[in-house]
Amino acid sequence: MKPPLSSSPSSSSLLKKARFSPFIFTLLAFIVFVTILYSEDFTCIFSQLDLYSSQSTHIHRSISNFKKNKHKLAFAIGETEESCDIFSGRWVRDEENRPLYEEQECPYIQPQLTCQEHGRPDKDYQYWRWQPHGCSVPTRFNATLMLESLRGKRMMFVGDSLNRGQFVSMVCLLHRIIPESAKSFKENGSLTVFTAKDYNATIEFYWAPFLLESNSDDAVVHRIQDRVVRKGSINKHGKHWKDVDIMVFNTYLWWMTGLEFKILQSGEIEDKEKDIAMVSTEDAYRMAMKSMLRWVKKNMDPKKTRVFFTSMSPSHQKGIDWGGDPKENCYNQTTLIEDSNYWGSDSRKSIMQVIGEVFRKSKVPITFLNITQLSSYRRDAHTSIYKKQWSPLTPEQIANPTSYADCVHWCMPGLQDTWNELLFTKLFYP
Ligand SMILES: *[C@@H]1O[C@H](CO)[C@@H](O)[C@H](O)[C@H]1NC(C)=O
Ligand SMILES: *[C@@H]1O[C@H](CO)[C@@H](O)[C@H](O)[C@H]1NC(C)=O
Ligand SMILES: *[C@@H]1O[C@H](CO)[C@@H](O)[C@H](O)[C@H]1NC(C)=O
Ligand SMILES: *[C@@H]1O[C@H](CO)[C@@H](O)[C@H](O)[C@H]1NC(C)=O
Ligand SMILES: *[C@@H]1O[C@H](CO)[C@@H](O)[C@H](O)[C@H]1NC(C)=O
Repeated sequence: MKPPLSSSPSSSSLLKKARFSPFIFTLLAFIVFVTILYSEDFTCIFSQLDLYSSQSTHIHRSISNFKKNKHKLAFAIGETEESCDIFSGRWVRDEENRPLYEEQECPYIQPQLTCQEHGRPDKDYQYWRWQPHGCSVPTRFNATLMLESLRGKRMMFVGDSLNRGQFVSMVCLLHRIIPESAKSFKENGSLTVFTAKDYNATIEFYWAPFLLESNSDDAVVHRIQDRVVRKGSINKHGKHWKDVDIMVFNTYLWWMTGLEFKILQSGEIEDKEKDIAMVSTEDAYRMAMKSMLRWVKKNMDPKKTRVFFTSMSPSHQKGIDWGGDPKENCYNQTTLIEDSNYWGSDSRKSIMQVIGEVFRKSKVPITFLNITQLSSYRRDAHTSIYKKQWSPLTPEQIANPTSYADCVHWCMPGLQDTWNELLFTKLFYP
């Protein structure tokens, strides 16, 4: 008998609760103002506040139940041993086999992620490999195997710009074994499609930062501060996801606008008079998770397809979180955070708790890519100031690079290649 995996009892508790004084509100208003001035794609106001902290256990149950019922999961060629959690491990320096491709060699990387091209002086962030603790499952990405398995199939990433990054990383990992004439990359509105013609395979990205319909759904013009999501609207986007064989969802940062979120109860997003309910960020997020699970249950055949959900991508906006200077952030960071208990002081914990609760209650087999903790050590891996800027920098910004560093997105090649290696492992060795 193998020892059971993480069968520790679920202990989830809300340890701290926020209390609000007029001063806090003024402070919040100020943070909102500053964040609007400096934000790129996101406002991470909520993530600036240490309001919640909690614990939750790993979700593995829906997948194990599915396996126990003697179903072989689609794409599986082996198994991860029960005692192995590939998301628990450490970063190992690997100058021999890293990076998995070169920045200049992959033409699909957006200029917001090409750090070398935009003057990043070091390449240290490219040479790290994730080493899971106590696992013997293969973790090395095999592009041939991946591409062969996608023959005649569709793989789709649905979510926000971070999931777009993971999509591009996947394309970069695969494209070099495909000749120039046998591939294409096309963008049209919300959908971007990479095609491997000889394989009749596509890898796609669909922009839906909330999964549900929202007023931020335009794939180009979406930087809206006053965000609204329509309840029960997942089919609006979901109708474009049918017949997908491998789905990879994410959603997180766009929900982080404050303590509460606007949910449209009925009517249309465009209506002048809106039937809005203000709900806590956690409840809004929970609603989205449940909608996603219902959509998967209704539309994905668990015997033929696979569904992944990628956990929150952490940002590194405040040096104080890792015992650094209050004025520093990810800018000029070239080393990893070494404290293995490091998590960062923000809303990630309460959202992780919501994910844990919703997934544990569900029987829908979804593979959870729990990349939050392993990414949280990587303050060095963000694009920082080494990216194409949306608008020209002011002299004040140039004088103070920390003020405009992007500590949300990740340089490529880099961290997100690891997310795909873990996806690879979970796809073939669930
Ligand atoms: C994800 O991993 C972290 C730490 O590695 C853990 O605390 C958390 O409970 C996990 N989340 C879920 C939902 O399993
Ligand atoms: C990669 O996968 C292919 C196809 O399954 C296999 O033939 C090859 O040996 C694998 N390569 C490595 C290095 O494991
Ligand atoms: C190509 O793949 C699609 C699914 O993505 C499938 O419907 C179609 O039949 C395939 N065509 C050929 C010629 O294999
Ligand atoms: C883009 O997508 C729309 C529908 O979403 C379609 O009508 C149009 O033909 C597409 N354009 C191209 C160039 O593929
Ligand atoms: C970057 O960090 C190094 C120490 O790691 C420090 O010596 C240097 O002054 C910093 N550069 C800037 C521009 O902040």
